[in-house]
Amino acid sequence: MNHKPVTLTALRRMKAEGRPIAMLTAYDASVAHHAEAAGADVLLVGDSLGMVVQGHPDTLPVTVDDIVYHARAVARGSRRALRVADMPFLSHADPAGALATAARLLKEGGAQMVKLEGGGQADVVGALADHGVPVCAHLGLQPQMVHKLGGYRVQGRDQEAAERMLADARELEAAGADLLILECVPRTLAARITAALDIPVIGIGAGAEVDGQVLVSHDVLGLTPGRPPRFAANFLRGADDIPAALADYVAAVRERRFPADEHGFD
Ligand code: KIV
Repeated sequence: MNHKPVTLTALRRMKAEGRPIAMLTAYDASVAHHAEAAGADVLLVGDSLGMVVQGHPDTLPVTVDDIVYHARAVARGSRRALRVADMPFLSHADPAGALATAARLLKEGGAQMVKLEGGGQADVVGALADHGVPVCAHLGLQPQMVHKLGGYRVQGRDQEAAERMLADARELEAAGADLLILECVPRTLAARITAALDIPVIGIGAGAEVDGQVLVSHDVLGLTPGRPPRFAANFLRGADDIPAALADYVAAVRERRFPADEHGFD
C-alpha cells in the first residue's frame, strides 16, 4: 500500500494517465480510517452530513461549526488521503466571506481543500486561489439550490443549460479551481466537460467517462434511510464487513466496474 500523501499533482497525474480517482464522503474518524485503508484518494467532509448524520431534509441548516467539527474528526482518522471540506450554504457568497470560511476549515478543521457549489463564482475562487487555498468546484445538481431548483433533478439536459455548464466549468478552472465535481449530469455532457478541462473531474451520477467517482459513504454502506439515489450503489451487500465494502467500492471505481449504465443519466 502506498503511504505517500495524495496531492493535487498526484490527482492531475491520475487524470493524465487515465487512472480513476476514488473519493468518498467521511464525517468521522472511523470511516475516514477505513476509507483511507481501502485506498480512497480523497475524503470529502460534505454538507450531506446535514441529511445523513443530522437528519435534516436538506443541507441548508449545516453550519461552518458543523463542518469544522466533523473535519477535525476526519483529520484525526486519516493521514494519506486528501481532505476536502464543504463550504456550507451562504458561507461563500463573496470573497471576504469565503476566505473567512476557508480559514476556519483549513486552520481549525485540518482540511486541505475547500469545496463550493455553483458557477458564476470566479471572484470567490480567484480570491481563494490567490491566498493558497485549493478549491474543488461543484456544478450540475447543487443541493444547496434545492429550493430554487424545486427538487433534486438532473441538470444540463437542454442545449442551453449544457453550454452554460461547460462555460461555467471553464471559467472556474481559469479562476484557479483545482478539482471539479459534476453531480447528476447527463453522461455525454460530463464526458465533454472532462475532456475540455485540465483539472480532474469527479462524477456522482455523471457516468463513467470522468476522471473519478464520489459517493456518500452512507449510500455505499446502505445506511441512508429511504430509497437510495439512482446513482448510488450499496457495496455492503455481498461484502463481509464495512472495511471490505469500502475496499470493494474503491476497487470498482479503479476497475471502472462502477458506475454501471443504470447509475447514470442520458
Ligand atoms: O455534500 C456532499 O457530500 C457532496 C457530494 C455528494 C459530492 O457534495
